[in-house]
Amino acid sequence: MGKIKNSKLAAEGKRELEWARLNMPLLVRIRSRFELEKPLKGLAIGTCLHLEKKTGILLETLKAGGAKVYASSCNPLTTDDRVAAALASEGIEVYAWAGQSEKDYYKNINSVLDGKPNAVIDDGCDQIFMLHTKRRELLPNVIGGCEETTTGITRLKAMEREGKLEFPVIAVNNAYSKYLFDNRFGTGQSTIDGIMRATNLLLAGKNVVVVGFGWCGRGIADRLRGMGANVIVVEISDRIRDGEPSGLHKALEALYSGYRVMDMRSASKLGDFFITATGCKNAIGPEHIRLMKSGAILANSGHFDNEIDRKYLEAQSRSHRELKTNLNEYALKDGRRLYLLSQGRLVNLSQPTGQGHPIEIMDGSFAIQALSLEYLTKSKLKSGVHDVPLEIDDMVVRLALRANGIELPALRPEQLKYLSSWEEGT
Ligand SMILES: NC(=O)c1ccc[n+]([C@@H]2O[C@H](COP(=O)([O-])OP(=O)(O)OC[C@H]3O[C@@H](n4cnc5c(N)ncnc54)[C@H](O)[C@@H]3O)[C@@H](O)[C@H]2O)c1
Repeated sequence: MGKIKNSKLAAEGKRELEWARLNMPLLVRIRSRFELEKPLKGLAIGTCLHLEKKTGILLETLKAGGAKVYASSCNPLTTDDRVAAALASEGIEVYAWAGQSEKDYYKNINSVLDGKPNAVIDDGCDQIFMLHTKRRELLPNVIGGCEETTTGITRLKAMEREGKLEFPVIAVNNAYSKYLFDNRFGTGQSTIDGIMRATNLLLAGKNVVVVGFGWCGRGIADRLRGMGANVIVVEISDRIRDGEPSGLHKALEALYSGYRVMDMRSASKLGDFFITATGCKNAIGPEHIRLMKSGAILANSGHFDNEIDRKYLEAQSRSHRELKTNLNEYALKDGRRLYLLSQGRLVNLSQPTGQGHPIEIMDGSFAIQALSLEYLTKSKLKSGVHDVPLEIDDMVVRLALRANGIELPALRPEQLKYLSSWEEGT
């Protein structure tokens, strides 16, 4: 079954998958073991991820482990139709295509759930949300899930707080070897790549406003600086999640990193480019859009398309049109023109201008996904949000270093003893 755009694209998709596979040594290694041990035998796995080539290698790995794999996309714009066709030809049940309507997007997630998953992998929590609301009859069948991104974790923690989360979910995003590299270096490189492919404009010398200096924002800011942009960082004063630094900490970190730091209203007048990476609704709202220079370009790299108030932009426009792929022009009633990339959806993943994170980065992130899912199905975890076990986290960084030819020694016994004692000072 399944539903994709065009099965004739499978041959091209297979070449995309081959290129990814050649550069994903960690997942290939896990896949070889899964092929022998079949740790996921007999399980149905529902996935809701950006369906592009690196994700394809993860899905192949789960299938090699013995699972029946169902795939939808976690964003209407981010499916690579070539990869979707190739995966469908390999027996993965795919319900996704680029440019889905909002209605089809949810319908496709629902079709994946029709496969009665025993475990789920989510990016943004939409599948888990649907399981807990419209498809509650399936809950007894579900062992648990894994969540890929910060916004998904924020939603899951809220569900957990309110006693609404009815199975265990492993917070893959919160593994050190995920957010330190994927959110920072992956989003850093791929966001700039997506903006450049959509606009083909120079970043050097431009004022680029980065809204949110979390893991993604700081990766984006660092890379922009390397390209000669004048980076302005915008933050807020709140703490989003308990136990984490507040926006004030992030703002001071940005300042000490050498960036100009200000509130969004002040930055609105200055930016040539604006990039949001906050996980928060209306980070760019009417009060900011009103102050922007004509010609400013707006892009979002946060999970949902609600970080930039697109409805306000539309309401204030005399006309708007897709000037070129993933670049919309808004001719405002006051005579200004503003440009929005990828309809305010993830600029780094919107097909065809966004290719997503570099392959090696996703090799690490998806290695954690595959190993966490295996762990989840073997363990009897309680309902709630769980950390990735440190052994998995450590193993993945060790393998990633090894893939780069780096082996590091362990501490010597006397050093270990020194570091665990309180009696020996000097
Ligand atoms: N584009 C991608 O490929 C990709 C990859 C990973 C994560 N994400 C998504 O990017 C978003 C950010 O992720 P993160 O890991 O950097 O999160 P984070 O929590 O580390 O950082 C978010 C930052 O935004 C700040 N912030 C929140 N609301 C704000 C507002 N209204 N104005 C200004 N600043 C505000 C917070 O103080 C925080 O410092 C999430 O939605 C996440 O799911 C995207």
